[in-house]
Amino acid sequence: MNRSYLFVPADSERKLAKAGDIGADALILDLEDAVAEDARPAARRLAAEYVKDRDDAWVRINPMDSEHALADLAAVMPSAPAGIVLPKPRSPVDAVALSERLDEIEQKHGLGPGQTAILALCTERPEALFTLHEYAGATPRLSALSWGAEDLSAALGAAANRDEDGNWLPTYEMARSLCLLAAAAAEVAAIDTVYTDFRDLDGLLRYAQNARRDGFSGMLAIHPAQVDVINAAFVPSRAEIEHAERIVALFDENPGAGTIGMDGRMIDRPHLVQARRLLKLAERQES
Ligand code: COA
Ligand code: MG
Repeated sequence: MNRSYLFVPADSERKLAKAGDIGADALILDLEDAVAEDARPAARRLAAEYVKDRDDAWVRINPMDSEHALADLAAVMPSAPAGIVLPKPRSPVDAVALSERLDEIEQKHGLGPGQTAILALCTERPEALFTLHEYAGATPRLSALSWGAEDLSAALGAAANRDEDGNWLPTYEMARSLCLLAAAAAEVAAIDTVYTDFRDLDGLLRYAQNARRDGFSGMLAIHPAQVDVINAAFVPSRAEIEHAERIVALFDENPGAGTIGMDGRMIDRPHLVQARRLLKLAERQES
């Protein structure tokens, strides 16, 4: 279960050279917004070279309805990336189209069928917000959903997406929640979006802690300094683990009970579900 995905512009040899030692659970080599048009051919070559030697490197291709997506895939897929990050899907149909293309390419290059995962940035276009429930069952390659506010606000012609205190304005808060709900419905990981003020590590810590509280299991990063903060924030604390273990133990000791008192509070089935979920998360992150 990945806590941190670090974006690395694939045209930057300097950043690529650094990226592997930072401790991110996964890297996303970017061929899209972080790379200028002229630099794209070189970025594709560098990404293909880099991905070959790693098993934690994903590639963000260009949108499926752009002229670049297929050339991006053709360049990097022979190197077997861990997954493809899909930007700006119009709907889950774009993820299905990507998946079908991956079926062909995996076969052509002798890769394991279905081995390439997909992470979709599911809120970057206004129309995409109306079909998010269709990610459930769309493709078994889907392993995570994340969201983005920058492209969405640009599409809306909005002058800002946060208020003066840095909190998401309602439209973006809604997009974030819908991403979280869609991920849960599809039974895939929910990954919160980038925290762009990369010098503000205190603010990042608060943001990431809230993201985990809300049900996200990881976050996108843009700068090396963000990775440790994010990794730490998405590990359940000792106290939380112990609390969850007590709930599970209580239900084990009272097999017939639907609801039990613990520390003067009512504990019922949803608490048990949540406790088991937290323990599973903690276990996966230890391994
Ligand atoms: N991956 C790997 N290394 C990175 C990095 C990244 N994402 N971001 C910065 N670094 C390196 C820098 O090259 C620098 O190394 P150096 O001292 O050897 O040159 C070091 O970390 C410190 O960087 P810093 O000077 O603090 O930042 P910067 O001004 O060089 O870069 C950004 C700031 C935002 C341009 C840069 O972090 C970046 O490119 N982030 C990713 C952007 C991206 O992919 N966006 C698309 C998704 S939203
Ligand atoms: Mg973008």
